[in-house]
Amino acid sequence: MALRIATRLAKSWPSAELTLLDRQALIPAATGTAFAHLGWTLRPLTVDVFEWARAPTQRQPACRWDVILANLFLHHFEGEALRELLSAVAQRCDAFIACEPRRSLPALAGSRLLPALAVSRDTLHDAIVSVRAGFRGDELSRLWPARADGWKVQERSAGLFSHLFLAARGAAR
Ligand SMILES: C[S@@+](CC[C@H](N)C(=O)[O-])C[C@H]1O[C@@H](n2cnc3c(N)ncnc32)[C@H](O)[C@@H]1O
Repeated sequence: MALRIATRLAKSWPSAELTLLDRQALIPAATGTAFAHLGWTLRPLTVDVFEWARAPTQRQPACRWDVILANLFLHHFEGEALRELLSAVAQRCDAFIACEPRRSLPALAGSRLLPALAVSRDTLHDAIVSVRAGFRGDELSRLWPARADGWKVQERSAGLFSHLFLAARGAAR
């Protein structure tokens, strides 16, 4: 997904640096090469996200990012852990975009229809659990730490199955 975004943005962002964080080493070498062809520098970061969140910013590979994007990631966490993670994100960027499962009846119904696509039991289980762990309403906005500090936030559905959270420093709604 990051590569598809980079491909679309490469003309206007010709030499971006991209950090991809996951605790699993998931990125094939060919993906790094594809980013390089676009002029983007890829820096895989294979760590637990809370190690990243708790490290002093000067010990990070980059201290700050212009934009942080979370895709199907935040729903792995809840409560105080999620609040801590969002606080670390707000300290390290100027814009944050999260696309997560939406906890809704259509999304739950959709996940239960997956057997029609002959998915594995694991995928079916993962889809149902992910929807249940997803978000709705203003759940992420209420955990976002920095509304008083010039942040503008938006939170809404994105299609039937996704939940979108956007935060930008000083941006107009
Ligand atoms: C549903 S996958 C989404 C992966 C990727 N963001 C994407 O869009 O394809 C969730 C990912 O979260 C990662 N993950 C879960 N807990 C994590 C943690 N504490 N620190 C870092 N990564 C974590 C898993 O390794 C997994 O790759």
